[in-house]
Amino acid sequence: MQSTVIAPSILSANFARLGEEVDNVLKAGADWVHFDVMDNHYVPNLTIGPMVCEALRKHGVTAPIDVHLMVEPVDRIVPDFAKAGASLISFHPEASAHVHRTVQLIKSHGCQAGVVLNPATPIDVLDWVLEDLDMVLLMSVNPGFGGQSFIPSALEKLRRVREKIDATGKPIRLEIDGGVKADNIGEIAAAGADTFVAGSAIFNAPGSDQRGYADVIARMKDAVAKVRG
Ligand code: DX5
Ligand code: ZN
Repeated sequence: MQSTVIAPSILSANFARLGEEVDNVLKAGADWVHFDVMDNHYVPNLTIGPMVCEALRKHGVTAPIDVHLMVEPVDRIVPDFAKAGASLISFHPEASAHVHRTVQLIKSHGCQAGVVLNPATPIDVLDWVLEDLDMVLLMSVNPGFGGQSFIPSALEKLRRVREKIDATGKPIRLEIDGGVKADNIGEIAAAGADTFVAGSAIFNAPGSDQRGYADVIARMKDAVAKVRG
């Protein structure tokens, strides 16, 4: 079983003091940094790119940076993120003409590779590529914005992808992204997720400081531990 990972999405952080926000959330117990890249084309929003990833590394961030690409095309930007210090790079299969090739491209640049499924994307897109992946990311909201509500059908989808992953016998992570809160993370873990993205639930915690972040992350970890041990 993969260890539990809490990956705060910096989409909901205060961008005016991003380095400090990332330091605070990691000191508060976060495991990874979830880095949402939006291009105003694949999704109707525009966020941050490789320069910001590199800036976080230069700032001293050593935790894994989990880059979630919501961009089209995908391949051109992959080497830039690898160079900028990304640890994992995940992409949406709808945005790549050659999904298998993109997975190999990410790995050839020394990063772990993930495929992201939107709420309405069927899971059979995983069939011929799953064993090459380090992670499957299921969206439990439509990509583009933080602060949306968890779409309940993601629970059944998690169970089905969990079965597929277990059948491979490989250490492939199952990550969930969108609407994850301290009060629903337990049932999300029970459905099979091991890696949990949370943006607004963490960064909008009372105080928006290290103490507030630590409180939410601890509550999330407790709820997951009750289910996963
Ligand atoms: C949405 C992003 C998410 C988002 C999650 O497109 O991929 O990572 O920041 O935010 P919350 O946790 O607020 O739903
Ligand atoms: Zn994301």
